Amino acid sequence: MLKGIIFDLDGVITDTAEFHFLAWQKLGEKIGITFDRAFNENLKGISRMDSLDRILAYGNKENNYTQAEKEALAHEKNEHYKQLIQQISPEDLLPGIASFIKACQEKELLLALASASKNGPTILTRLGLADVFEVVVDPATLRKGKPDPEIFLQAAESLGLDSSECAGVEDAEAGIEAINRAGMFSVGVGTAEAMSGADLFVEDTIDLNLEEIIASFNQK
Ligand code: BG6
Ligand code: MG
Repeated sequence: MLKGIIFDLDGVITDTAEFHFLAWQKLGEKIGITFDRAFNENLKGISRMDSLDRILAYGNKENNYTQAEKEALAHEKNEHYKQLIQQISPEDLLPGIASFIKACQEKELLLALASASKNGPTILTRLGLADVFEVVVDPATLRKGKPDPEIFLQAAESLGLDSSECAGVEDAEAGIEAINRAGMFSVGVGTAEAMSGADLFVEDTIDLNLEEIIASFNQK
């Protein structure tokens, strides 16, 4: 029986991908690496340091910086990102998310957040969702990022649930892989192609339907 839903944040609850893009782009300008929004797709769901590594590799500069220098670059990106997310308000919930969360609460499902973002709690507060999730996994405690299942396994354990009692909702391919490897039911938000690994997918958050998810979960 479905007892818990574990949410990704960026791209599922609110759309911060553009802010991440703008902040990385500004850093890229400084270090002489330009990239577009299509490349930015590869950074979805990927931790801050892993994102920097991908950007440096893309610009053939992966060996140009020491670990301390890379941490300073990631810090600089994050300072800019923190400025950008100050403009987030409850109006920035993606379409249908408020009613989907309400439907989950009415069914007394336990809710957790499994975001790779260390800014997750700030963003939840800005969205007016600070009290909604029973569990918010702290990504600083993780050994491995998505697509490793660790973040979803930790969320389920903290909720006191077995993986088989949980569904995860994700917009990133790395996230769907993490949910599947955690042994959970995966719900994807995105194109059929990108979400081909998901047990169930919708093209837009407005189409997330709890009854449909429960029915599909029970058939699996
Ligand atoms: C994920 C985003 O949710 O969080 C990634 O999809 C981002 O793009 C990652 O890099 C880490 O975020 P932060 O806020 O800790 O830099
Ligand atoms: Mg995401």
